[in-house]
Amino acid sequence: MTKSSNLTQDNRSSLDFTEESTPPQIRGVIFDMDGVITDTIEYHYQTWQQLADEEGIPFNREANEALRGLSRRDSLLKILGSRSCSEAKIQEMLDRKNRYYLEFIQNMNSDRLLPGVEKLLNELRAANIKTGIASASQNVHRVVERLGIGDRIDVITNVYNVNRPKPAPDVFVYAAEELGLLPKECLVFEDAESGVEAALAARMWVVGLGPGDRVGQAHIVLPNLQGVHWSDLLLAIQSLQG
Ligand code: BG6
Ligand code: MG
Repeated sequence: MTKSSNLTQDNRSSLDFTEESTPPQIRGVIFDMDGVITDTIEYHYQTWQQLADEEGIPFNREANEALRGLSRRDSLLKILGSRSCSEAKIQEMLDRKNRYYLEFIQNMNSDRLLPGVEKLLNELRAANIKTGIASASQNVHRVVERLGIGDRIDVITNVYNVNRPKPAPDVFVYAAEELGLLPKECLVFEDAESGVEAALAARMWVVGLGPGDRVGQAHIVLPNLQGVHWSDLLLAIQSLQG
């Protein structure tokens, strides 16, 4: 871990490995997508803002922060608050928001990868670590294709593959199953409070990316993936296992 990476190991209890003489190795890494691999959070903000303006609903960047990790539908319901709306109107707004979003992402490419992501993916490949993405986004396949990283991702899942969205653990448990791994063999990168909660509930190791008041429940907190190396992360996890 680089000094500037601001690694914090808190006093959160590490996973319970009491039934084993040695802690299991980490064999897989599961990434959230929006806000971890790519900065699409800004696109989501712009498109929710456009929809809210058209509907005369107050919205701003701060309100958008509370939507990180939520599904599109849960996000809209949060924006609507106590306003009542027919199901048809809700569906129309969800479709409209996604139309705006698809316009934003149609020309995106690897330039939209967040700093450090590509290097880390290459290191994981070299270290024979399996990789997955577990996202709340229905656009996950489309975005991964645009970013050009599909060749370094073994499994792509989203919350529509499972019953319950984040903060339920389902999408991470499902991704681990698809990778052929136990939850405790997986490490998750997340930028959302609901995502950190989901990964902890899945009994996985969790690296939170962002401010402590958002992801401070994670085992390790880093500002982002810039300068993060797999070997350093493994050492940090091993010291937590100790
Ligand atoms: C999450 C984002 O990953 O996906 C949310 O953090 C977003 O901001 C959600 O609303 C749903 O994305 P999509 O692409 O299905 O509208
Ligand atoms: Mg995210």
